Amino acid sequence: MEKFIVHGEASLEGTVNISGSKNASLPILAATLLTREECIIRRVPDVSDTNYMLQILQNLGAEVERASGTVVIKCEKLHSHEAPYDLVRKMRASVCVMGPLLARQNRANVSLPGGCVIGDRPIDLHLRGLKGLGARIDVEGGNVNLEARFGLKGDTIDMMGKNGATVLGTDNVMMAAVLAKGTTVINGAACEPEVIDLANFLNSMGAKITGAGSPRIEIEGVTELGGVDHTVIPDRIEAGTFLVAGAMAAKDKITLRRVRSDHLASVLEVLGQCGCKMKIGDETISIGKADQPLGANIITEPYPGFPTDMQAQMCSLFATTPGLSVVKDTIFPQRFMHASEMKRMGANIQVDDGTAVINGVNQLSAAPVMASDLRASAALVLSGLTATGQTEITRVYHIDRGYEHIDDKLAALGARIDRIPDH
Ligand code: EPU
Repeated sequence: MEKFIVHGEASLEGTVNISGSKNASLPILAATLLTREECIIRRVPDVSDTNYMLQILQNLGAEVERASGTVVIKCEKLHSHEAPYDLVRKMRASVCVMGPLLARQNRANVSLPGGCVIGDRPIDLHLRGLKGLGARIDVEGGNVNLEARFGLKGDTIDMMGKNGATVLGTDNVMMAAVLAKGTTVINGAACEPEVIDLANFLNSMGAKITGAGSPRIEIEGVTELGGVDHTVIPDRIEAGTFLVAGAMAAKDKITLRRVRSDHLASVLEVLGQCGCKMKIGDETISIGKADQPLGANIITEPYPGFPTDMQAQMCSLFATTPGLSVVKDTIFPQRFMHASEMKRMGANIQVDDGTAVINGVNQLSAAPVMASDLRASAALVLSGLTATGQTEITRVYHIDRGYEHIDDKLAALGARIDRIPDH
């Protein structure tokens, strides 16, 4: 397993290009199953999660070509309706082939994704939604079998769960409903920008979706969808992570290019409260350290609230911000694996009941730490950048799942990160 050596006390300057969104790309790639025609998708980040999704599609019969961020997919003939466990277990988002397979082939057999380090991640709401469209569902031997022998039929479906709306669940039902007979209304839909991007993709294919980005989405079923040429939205979480890097380690400022600041409103608001100096331009954001850094209290919420996917990175910032900060994760209350690793670097963090109370220290110091999940790994890289000494981070495959060449991008800003290969 590869590891990173992050050289501390970094001083960052320059410009970084933000990649296309991983979380928008994954369902969009799955949605290509809905048509026989060729789809061109631009700005797909070269990360292992998008590679897994392409493997799943190829396994189902898709023809795939990939060159410098552009993926061309043609699902003319599908020879399977099954996403097996050895592929699904590598990436939870593979469940989003369920909706399109069911819509295109009237059946799908998808392995249950199983446990996840950031907490219990059920798919009951996905199944509730697909059942609402008329699918018969059996769970057997760790697999979900879905069947709609006479096709799916539109209905009014409530997708709201106890922890709020579900992003991939909304995506799955939307992808199934586009080819269903009649009209589907999804109430309690997720409002994330990635859901809007998928709806835009589907509408360009010929779907009739209105209301994406609001809690009520209406879908009028059509009989056929066609090919499309689509550019994925910028990755707001990668952007947020680089904003925190700038807030922690900029010499004067760093500038992010190809960003959508409207997708980052809640993150920018908190960074503003922390005293960070920011300048927002047309598709750019510049950020530097605060003259007098302040902590903050954050509660993660579904969009447009503060994203759970930025929670770990903020813990890194607060670890060396004077005073007390409180970070509560309501979406994934167990998502604090980074806290115990950061404690090994000298952070003062107490986690209880989904809430981290952080008392800022002057500086962290290097220690061997282990990456446990995607965003926790990013938090450890950020901590390593400002700590004294050289921080060794093992299991960096977690970070490669969702950040496109993060070590190279940080190196271009002046950081030194050595990627040590497997022995
Ligand atoms: N939930 C249920 N039942 C369901 C589905 C979800 O109870 O059937 C609960 C979850 O346990 C959680 C909440 O609902 O408490 C929200 O989960 P959601 O379904 O929205 O998560 P997801 O769609 O599986 C996506 C992102 C995650 C991100 C979450 C929340 C992708 C590929 N993944 O997951 O991204 O944390 O939304 O915003 O889009 C990441 O990129 O690091 C990541 C984990």
